[in-house]
Amino acid sequence: MSTFQAPKGTYDLTPPRSATFLAVREAIAAPLRDSGYGYIETPGFENVELFARGVGESTDIVTKEMYTLTTKGGDQLALRPEGTASVLRAALEANLHKAGNLPVKLWYSGSYYRYERPQAGRYRHFSQVGAEAIGTEDPVLDAELIILADQAYRSLGLRQFRILLNSLGDKECRPVYREALQSFLRDLDLDEETRRRIEINPLRVLDDKRADVQKQLTDAPKLRDYLCDACKAYHEEVRALLTAAGVVFEDDEKLVRGLDYYTRTTFEFVHDGLGAQSAVGGGGRYDGLSEMIGGPELPSVGWALGVDRTVLALEAEGIELDLPYTTSVYAVPLGEEARRALFGVVTGLRRAGIAADFAFGGRGLKGAMKSANRSGARYALVAGERDLAEGVVQLKDMESGEQSAVPLAEVEAELAKRLG
Ligand code: HAM
Repeated sequence: MSTFQAPKGTYDLTPPRSATFLAVREAIAAPLRDSGYGYIETPGFENVELFARGVGESTDIVTKEMYTLTTKGGDQLALRPEGTASVLRAALEANLHKAGNLPVKLWYSGSYYRYERPQAGRYRHFSQVGAEAIGTEDPVLDAELIILADQAYRSLGLRQFRILLNSLGDKECRPVYREALQSFLRDLDLDEETRRRIEINPLRVLDDKRADVQKQLTDAPKLRDYLCDACKAYHEEVRALLTAAGVVFEDDEKLVRGLDYYTRTTFEFVHDGLGAQSAVGGGGRYDGLSEMIGGPELPSVGWALGVDRTVLALEAEGIELDLPYTTSVYAVPLGEEARRALFGVVTGLRRAGIAADFAFGGRGLKGAMKSANRSGARYALVAGERDLAEGVVQLKDMESGEQSAVPLAEVEAELAKRLG
């Protein structure tokens, strides 16, 4: 160990577990790429004001969890705590919405930072793959995104997740509900901080996990009863489309989400094997966000799936992914001359697209074969001076243990044939 350790609330991804992270990112990205989403990458930090306005001044993310810094030039920046505000900012800046091709469908993958209290599944640096569909109000789009996330999780083999669905109403009906909720909450027996929350963000009180608070909320006014006709119809359409696609979901009136920009559809993917930090992904519609950050009216919808928690969910379900990153062939040279010859073979295999590795450092047969085993390679190539004198290498099938001599010039073709 060095003098240093990964900062509190963070961890390093190292082999072999790191391969699972790559595979999870790829599994989430693949259905998006196949559905017309283009890749976008934005900086790891942004003007702090973007998140304050976008994510919301009253949210925990903005008030407590942002990593902020002032540059030598005096700019106030924040490490990005989430991706939606950045992606929308970038899309507006690049005028993607003006190309006459709405919605602008984008996907992204990267690191996010929140100064949270670390616990299992909750980190200060974590990784998300996200998708945003910008500029169109169409329930089909909300359904498409939920279906694609469901497809991604299923392709990984996950089964113990549930989809929670809600509608938060729009700028017409939510303010009316908000007021009704506030007057209900003001009469309850609550602590000072929660009382403050009633005034800034009353819907968040519904999300309070404490039993004594939940007990008092039984008769709280329900958002469902306040939704305007347009929001109700929109929500029913999303539900019908999901049902038609065979995607099972649960209506969850209490689903509020921790970011202020949501309107209408909100959803969360929760996994039952993860304990307290059960949300593996979440998202929803954010029809007002563009205007909140100075852009035109661009109704949009999106989600982000947490890669760290998805990996934990795989582990909780005991799923081992079929990883495409393993070495197929491991070369073991015995002696100087063999080293040169086999390295030539390995280079040729790699150029032919066959994953191959090599016993470096002039190691003995025993140690090198151990490494070959550990690499998971299907075949080992072993050559010593006698083999080279005969112009062959020994090709060993690591599964059956069978070994045969193959002429040096035919090794590549033989391996290509055997590996299909
Ligand atoms: P979010 O619910 O804050 O939404 O985060 C999405 C996912 O990121 C969570 O469900 C969780 O899996 C993961 N995540 C969040 N915080 C942490 C953490 N501290 N440690 C580990 N994993 C974490 C958003 O970020 C929105 N931008 C989603 C969205 C996109 N809405 C519309 N478009």
